[in-house]
Amino acid sequence: MSNNLLAGKRGIIFGALDEKSIAWKVAERCVEEGAMITLTNAPVALRMGEIQKLGEKLNAEVIPADATSEEDLEKLIGESMEILGGKLDFVLHAIGMSLNVRKKKEYTNLKYEWMQKTFDISAISFHKLMQQLYNKDAMNEWGSILALSYIAAQRTFPDYSEMAESKALLESFARSFGYHFAEKAKVRVNTISQSPTITTAGSGVKGFDEFFGYADKMSPLGNASAEACADYCVTMFSDLTRMVTMQNLYHDGGFASMGMSPKVFE
Ligand SMILES: NC(=O)c1ccc[n+]([C@@H]2O[C@H](COP(=O)([O-])OP(=O)(O)OC[C@H]3O[C@@H](n4cnc5c(N)ncnc54)[C@H](O)[C@@H]3O)[C@@H](O)[C@H]2O)c1
Repeated sequence: MSNNLLAGKRGIIFGALDEKSIAWKVAERCVEEGAMITLTNAPVALRMGEIQKLGEKLNAEVIPADATSEEDLEKLIGESMEILGGKLDFVLHAIGMSLNVRKKKEYTNLKYEWMQKTFDISAISFHKLMQQLYNKDAMNEWGSILALSYIAAQRTFPDYSEMAESKALLESFARSFGYHFAEKAKVRVNTISQSPTITTAGSGVKGFDEFFGYADKMSPLGNASAEACADYCVTMFSDLTRMVTMQNLYHDGGFASMGMSPKVFE
């Protein structure tokens, strides 16, 4: 159902790899709500994923960009403004990847070269993106920038490994850049801390299936789906949330406030 919440708005969506991706659902909902978007992902994901299919379906241009490359980001922002016909109103950063997790390194035996790459892809890319948007004056007033996070930034989830620190850094960048963007152009910057969700990135974490079930029981509303996350992103991109900035917003069915749930023992 569309309420035209994003009518006339222009945005860039990072991170749609396949139909399971949270960004995929966000892109679909944004267009349904009247937005014009460009889609982007790393060149390797463009070759391996299904993003072109989404581009055709949504009539959205797909522009390759490695989010760790300032040059790629600059080009992406310039091209997006040209294609969409003006400055941007919203941007979604939905990027996460840990080399140490992927290569099954224990947290007590991490390879630091990989850790730095993980931070670059999963967190510093968010700062790079915002710095380009800021210096190119690419955001309209009252625009909205979002990144997706996870509660391992606040609490220990052992198998999440160095992604915990990536998310802590990501959330901190949202607060710090949120100040500068608000002062400059009344642009808001937030992170959404999402429930475990069955996607390529999510399922890459050891013991994900068991943990997904545990979180579902611990959350009085159950785990939030990717579709529900897309709805929340739409509200955060809309004009109905103009005064929300520099926040980490839990979208997790209540998980973050729970101590214990009897359901876990049933
Ligand atoms: N799935 C979960 O359980 C969960 C929970 C909370 C938060 N998140 C976060 O949601 C976001 C989206 O992940 P998802 O779960 O939809 O998985 P996903 O695997 O579908 O998306 C991750 C995306 O990151 C992209 N990416 C990786 N390296 C990149 C690079 N160098 N440049 C540009 N893009 C790059 C991948 O191509 C992919 O599209 C991530 O930030 C993830 O950490 C996921």
